[in-house]
Amino acid sequence: MRETATAQPNIALIKYWGKRDTELNLPAVGSISITLSELFTSMTVEFEDNLEQDELHLNNEQNDKLLPRLSHAIDIAAGGDRPRARISSECNFPIAAGLASSASSFAAVVVAASAAMGIERSVGELANLAGRASGSAARSLYGGFVELENSGDAVVVSELLPADAWPLDVVVAVTETGPKPVGSTEAMEISRRTSPFYERWVGDQADDLASARNAIAARDFAALASVAEHNCLKMHSVMWSSRPPIVYWNDATLACLQTIRQLQSDGVDVFFTIDAGPQVKAVCDTADTDTVETALRATDGVRDILRSGLGEGARLR
Ligand code: DP6
Repeated sequence: MRETATAQPNIALIKYWGKRDTELNLPAVGSISITLSELFTSMTVEFEDNLEQDELHLNNEQNDKLLPRLSHAIDIAAGGDRPRARISSECNFPIAAGLASSASSFAAVVVAASAAMGIERSVGELANLAGRASGSAARSLYGGFVELENSGDAVVVSELLPADAWPLDVVVAVTETGPKPVGSTEAMEISRRTSPFYERWVGDQADDLASARNAIAARDFAALASVAEHNCLKMHSVMWSSRPPIVYWNDATLACLQTIRQLQSDGVDVFFTIDAGPQVKAVCDTADTDTVETALRATDGVRDILRSGLGEGARLR
């Protein structure tokens, strides 16, 4: 009745933004991501008949704020009539600041809860359950380069390339450590309802997915860089053109983009991507990681740097 699972966050290169079914939490678009190796969330789920309600300890402190969504994820994995759960989580990076902590948390909790209930599930089934809790979490069930296809009543998630087939690094420039002003679930709905660019965003996604898939198959860094930056800026254009506008960037976010542009013109293999938060993720060739880190550290407003390679999917222990 007690199991522990570990999952790493993933960073989308072709983004998920918008839902076609809010009840089942089905995405309106497919997405492609890379799973990281150095940032992790571990979740222990222990079912206890005597417990009156679920409990959550995050990094050894009681946390009631994140509990409702985690309880919901456990309901998805174990059914609403399950015994109450004692959940304890450890996370080695800032939560809810646009660093995909929800992806690794929900992936890990679904794996741990399924095992603690004694239910055997395939990775595809676990990915679907994690995706119902949080869309991006479905991708953290797999390692390396991952595609989430948006078709039918479920999502199909697959590994395009294992982590070691094309070793890239991700340098995260942390520009703000507090929680984001508006969560992605709510922000996506605002975009769907109000952005004049939303339909075009959804309609053009298949082209970006195809370009990224081809670039990954060919290990073509320049092609992947081009489509990933384009797709990221389109997603942020949808956010910015929503009412009310959704602007996650700060001054340092833009300064990091300028640093990366300078590195690119110096011949460094690096590109940026930004999610629902002000942090900038620089994806680079492993030969260039030190150069990228040094340049981002020296950028105004950067508070911290996290470095990671590509890693594996969620698993028990
Ligand atoms: C900008 O997966 O957090 O990071 O399904 O509502 O939980 P919910 O949304 P979530 O959204 C992630 C948005 C993104 C892009 C991405 O990861 O693809």
